[in-house]
Amino acid sequence: MESANLIGRRVVTPYRLTHRGVYVMQNQPLFTPHRMGELDLPNRIVTAPLTRMGGRSHDHIRTTLQAEYYAQRASAGLIIAEATTVNPEGLGWADTPGLWTKGQLRGWRRVTDAVHAAGGRIPAQLWHTGAISPPALREGAQPVAASNLDPGQVSFMRTGARPTVTPRSPTRQDIRVTVADFARVQGNAIDAGFDGVQILAHDLNLISQFLNAATNLRPPSRWDARGTPMKLPRWRCL
Ligand SMILES: Cc1cc2nc3c(=O)[nH]c(=O)nc-3n(C[C@H](O)[C@H](O)[C@H](O)COP(=O)(O)O)c2cc1C
Repeated sequence: MESANLIGRRVVTPYRLTHRGVYVMQNQPLFTPHRMGELDLPNRIVTAPLTRMGGRSHDHIRTTLQAEYYAQRASAGLIIAEATTVNPEGLGWADTPGLWTKGQLRGWRRVTDAVHAAGGRIPAQLWHTGAISPPALREGAQPVAASNLDPGQVSFMRTGARPTVTPRSPTRQDIRVTVADFARVQGNAIDAGFDGVQILAHDLNLISQFLNAATNLRPPSRWDARGTPMKLPRWRCL
């Protein structure tokens, strides 16, 4: 913006006066548009996926409360929705959402419609907590993970943090079913109106439990280009 200073010279400032009489920075990269895959983001601000534990514990359905919460953030370039579980075995934290039932799909549809009506974009984040899943959330059933090893973490319940338990190793059928659940739920995410899907594979969740030699006790099953087994990363459990 050009303006006259006190001695009458024209000066260029990085600010622009809006019609509301507010100075905003112009040419600020954060506020410039960005093409991300098939999505046109009006700015580069991304709301990180944030588990809120503010949902219904009996059916894991998102409600009008979450529709309002996400629509309030629609001016961000992108809002990544909170981690959403792909099947009952993957539930790890109390009052978190799922996307494996028709009711859960309809609940999320309310959210995506509200975000789109407010001009936003929202991808889903798919989640399976593996060994972190507390039996109390699933009628006492033992969680399934990469190996039968207690990761020594905590699970978050309504009553507070509880120590994790020893999970059972998966059968081939468990693995097939879980992979199929991820695939089916990504279809549900698209049917629910999400603008994309992100798979939660960081932190100590099921996928990282497979990738981490501290939680996956199987012999290495991958080989590098020369045919030697690849070393799995040995991440520190937090
Ligand atoms: C309350 C809370 C909930 C979170 N929930 C998720 C989640 O559902 N999925 C995820 O991938 N990360 C989750 N995270 C991690 C954040 O998205 C983010 O990556 C982390 O806070 C680091 O960001 P920062 O470096 O800006 O603090 C959560 C973090 C917090 C504090």
